[in-house]
Amino acid sequence: MSAITALPPDDGSGHEQSVFEQIAAGLRMHNWCAVADALPPALAARLFDHVRSVDNNRFAPAGIGRSNDHVHNPFVRRDRIRWIEGDAEAEQHWLQWCARLQSFLNRQLFLGLFSFESHFAHYQPGDFYRKHVDAFRPDGTERGARRVLSLVTYLNPGWQLVDGGELAIYDDQGVQIIHKVMPAYGTVVVFLSTEVPHEVLPANRDRYSIAGWFRVNGNHADRPDPPR
Ligand code: OGA
Ligand code: MN
Repeated sequence: MSAITALPPDDGSGHEQSVFEQIAAGLRMHNWCAVADALPPALAARLFDHVRSVDNNRFAPAGIGRSNDHVHNPFVRRDRIRWIEGDAEAEQHWLQWCARLQSFLNRQLFLGLFSFESHFAHYQPGDFYRKHVDAFRPDGTERGARRVLSLVTYLNPGWQLVDGGELAIYDDQGVQIIHKVMPAYGTVVVFLSTEVPHEVLPANRDRYSIAGWFRVNGNHADRPDPPR
């Protein structure tokens, strides 16, 4: 057996490569990018079946902040989430796709992405997530792994403009909305976690997404910080 092992192959059509290239190009030019039909169809279908089969009561109200400063504030966000641990086949395929994207972006953009965490989110009609950034710029004092790159994808077949629920992207100052991304099935959005204020607008129907974050290791190379 060869000592060289390949990463799991994509569907062979070059779709994955072209999606990854579009994401890298978008990040080089702006701080964010949205790519329609980016999720491989077979993966999207698996994730869609999986998220619908996971009982609603296994989603927990989403909090803000991490671990001990984690608070649930329904005035800021209303979605319910479930962390992806890789315990279903669909989740493993998702994590593998994200790992391939991580190594692609590390090679192309030298981001030094080190780990990845993600969760499903379910927004019921009327739910929202007010304007926020996913991470604050480092001030030199933090020790843990930091969120650098945010990734969002959507599992909503047949989404229409009238369904609302867009991801609103703001300018750097967080003053004006510069773009609204429809949470359409298979669309992938990637942005710099500290640089792009964004907001989830209320939807008129159930809205499913996955939100994930690539992180860099903290400033203590000898103490790798595990995800979460
Ligand atoms: C988040 C988030 C965006 C979306 O979970 O931090 O901004 O469109 N999600 O679901
Ligand atoms: Mn966010």
